[in-house]
Amino acid sequence: MLIVANWKAYVDDSKLAKRLFEASKALSRVGHTLVLAPGAPFLGALSLGNRTKVQFASQDVSLKEGGAATGESTALMIKNVGATYAIVGHSERRALGETNVVVADKIRQAIDAGLLPIVCIGEHERDPEGKYLGGLREQVASALKPLTPKERALVVLAYEPLWAIGATQAIHPDDLHEIILYIRKVLAELTSVKGAAKSIVLYGGSVDPSNIAALGKAGGVQGFLIGRASVEPKSFTALLRELL
Ligand code: PGA
Repeated sequence: MLIVANWKAYVDDSKLAKRLFEASKALSRVGHTLVLAPGAPFLGALSLGNRTKVQFASQDVSLKEGGAATGESTALMIKNVGATYAIVGHSERRALGETNVVVADKIRQAIDAGLLPIVCIGEHERDPEGKYLGGLREQVASALKPLTPKERALVVLAYEPLWAIGATQAIHPDDLHEIILYIRKVLAELTSVKGAAKSIVLYGGSVDPSNIAALGKAGGVQGFLIGRASVEPKSFTALLRELL
């Protein structure tokens, strides 16, 4: 499985950052791919010169290529400190005004720099008529359509319903399974049936040691994007142990 630890701005202490990295090193030997997504300063500090199996992601990527762009972390900077992935379009970025068009442009930046984009999609809420499915389809289509078929295969999708992020309860495994089937159907239209079957789709939203095994078993996902439970060494270790 692909396990992405999204530290958000929870981790602001270098000692904790190091402890989490040490725990990850130990756990990365168990066969899952472990990706840490620290805040930008810690990303550079931890991933530069990293020779372990643990991989790194940025939490965002700039729209700018470089040059006169004060304050930006460009895709090339992220690539050149040793990151493999870039999270793009997290709901907390979309809440700051990031549209599907901006997300698509950021995916372009990431791919051109050689980073694998982890593109977050997810509905605010579910309506009984299922209109939210159209919104999800639009998020996937606008992310993938500008890409070539080869590039589309590089995209990791992270389904993160907003109502489950930072909440008390994750989605039910059966509901997750259902929506992942829908996302794969949309992917099959945009790539191919074979391509859709191979695509990596993650789930994120209140994943913790008590639910990760059931979500992994019944949910039909290839991994998780984890916030709160990934920033405390004890729960992070417990979480990964559940997947052994
Ligand atoms: P959470 O966050 O695990 O704290 O709900 C998940 C995310 O936003 O990626």
